[in-house]
Amino acid sequence: MRDRKGDRMDTLFYESTDSTNRIAKIEAEEGAEHGTAVVAENQTNGRGRLGKEWNSVPGKGLYCSIIVCPDVQPERYAQLTLVAGVAVAEVLEKVLGRSCQLKWPNDIFFSGKKCGGILTESVEVKNGALEGKRSAIVGIGLNVNSELTDFPENLRDSVTSLFLEGGRKHSIKVLFELVRRQLLQEIEFFEHGGFHEILQRWRSRDFLLGKSLECIGYDGAIIRGVALGPDEEGRLHLRGVDGRDFEVLSGDLRLAGVVSKEPD
Ligand code: BTN
Repeated sequence: MRDRKGDRMDTLFYESTDSTNRIAKIEAEEGAEHGTAVVAENQTNGRGRLGKEWNSVPGKGLYCSIIVCPDVQPERYAQLTLVAGVAVAEVLEKVLGRSCQLKWPNDIFFSGKKCGGILTESVEVKNGALEGKRSAIVGIGLNVNSELTDFPENLRDSVTSLFLEGGRKHSIKVLFELVRRQLLQEIEFFEHGGFHEILQRWRSRDFLLGKSLECIGYDGAIIRGVALGPDEEGRLHLRGVDGRDFEVLSGDLRLAGVVSKEPD
């Protein structure tokens, strides 16, 4: 695939690595171009949000990290996560012919079960043309050809894969190229003022909207409320039990009253 200047974009393939986000971070610091990606067949230490583990079934999922240098202020990276969610969701819907849901900020659900997640991280560029600026790593994990028995028993009620949903296997490389292309297209639209429209597409898939939640902050504080959806900055709004509204920029979300075995 070609980048904005028409040059071929780099893809670094690994049979196995600890985390494609870790490798991509090093590449981004060294000044890797917009669109450069790290893809692995297996990850031994795949990372999820809030320091959680991402379970990578060897050879059966898409584990990739795409380096992007959007022409927007780093303060807008919360929006970028939602842009990435819409890009991935729309590819998967085309491939499967079924609609999916997005759970703020970054989870992709089919039939109420988690099929994928996105971990966006910001990096300071130390070399190259963008030295001193920030770029972002969009780490994408998708359960593609996995079967239920590939997952630990405690996750089997809450995960799914494209295979489990559609009954057929998919080429992970083809899926990767579709995802990268769609992500870069959406980012271009985002750079040119498209966020409002992208947010509408995100909201039309909002898994949490109207549901009662508990949000556990990094300091352990718990907010209980009903999800009102993300705002124009990408922050989630909750209507608290006392009628007050809360904005959440980051936090662990659980459906209230559900003893969660949900993968993160
Ligand atoms: C989440 O669900 O919290 C996000 C999961 C993101 C997993 C992907 S797999 C490829 C990339 N490398 C990582 O270590 N994590 C992301």
